[in-house]
Amino acid sequence: MIFGRKGGPASAGEGTREISFSEVSVGVLDDTPTGDAYRPILTDVNVTVDEPTVAIIGANGSGKSTLLQLFNGLVTANSGQVFIDGLDPVVEAKQVRSRVGFVFTDPAAQLVMPTPLEDIELSLRKRVPKAERRGAALAVLEELGIAELADRSVYELSGGQRQLVALAAVLAVDPQILVLDEPTTLLDLRNKEKLRKLLTDLVARRGVRVIFSTHDLEFAELADRALVVDSGRIVHDSAPAEATQMYRELIMSDCS
Ligand SMILES: Nc1ncnc2c1ncn2[C@@H]1O[C@H](COP(=O)(O)OP(=O)(O)OP(=O)(O)O)[C@@H](O)[C@H]1O
Ligand SMILES: [Mg+2]
Repeated sequence: MIFGRKGGPASAGEGTREISFSEVSVGVLDDTPTGDAYRPILTDVNVTVDEPTVAIIGANGSGKSTLLQLFNGLVTANSGQVFIDGLDPVVEAKQVRSRVGFVFTDPAAQLVMPTPLEDIELSLRKRVPKAERRGAALAVLEELGIAELADRSVYELSGGQRQLVALAAVLAVDPQILVLDEPTTLLDLRNKEKLRKLLTDLVARRGVRVIFSTHDLEFAELADRALVVDSGRIVHDSAPAEATQMYRELIMSDCS
């Protein structure tokens, strides 16, 4: 396992260190000529996660992003229960949001300031005094090897550079749980390798738990565990090599 259980601290301290979904369903009401119709997006999701790294794989539109967004209350369940380290993301939204860092697939969804440095300073505003903020923001960019981007316009950055800046802005606030929605889509080989090393380090040294969705099956195979989502249901849950194999077979049987 690359991200690896080995060497990682067993516990962050007191309290439950477990993410659990019990009978969770999410759906929307669609307008139809005859009235509203409930369209399910996720159905009866039952899963408990306590591994350091978990990959979520599945076809476009299968429900991966929706599942990830339940982790920090961006999406709320229509029924069932979600607990993040014993906390309810709706009732205890503030505590959950301070524990869970969420990195969107599209960095434009979260970068709001003109430059990477300013964006990370914004992330740090509640935890670092103003006088120290610039230095701390630079240190975060340095950790990701992108300090040279500090004062560039975010609009001029490449997609991959923006994706790394978005990750830096989330890491700046030291999340205990890092949720990444397709983190490698825009990254070249070098940056993907950099991300792999960074996540390995976060898991091993800081005890961060990482949950990510991906279409990159090689990257998924680096996790400790993988879930396969199909039509809004978790249809497979195992070691990643077995899960990617099952997913390949699922797609092949659909295409034949
Ligand atoms: N806010 C919403 N309102 C209505 N339908 C939605 C909403 N969010 C997601 N959906 C629908 O739910 C289904 C699952 O979407 P989701 O984004 O979770 O898929 P995904 O597995 O992340 O797909 P991809 O691999 O393309 O990112 C899709 O059919 C999508 O159109
Ligand atoms: Mg998605």
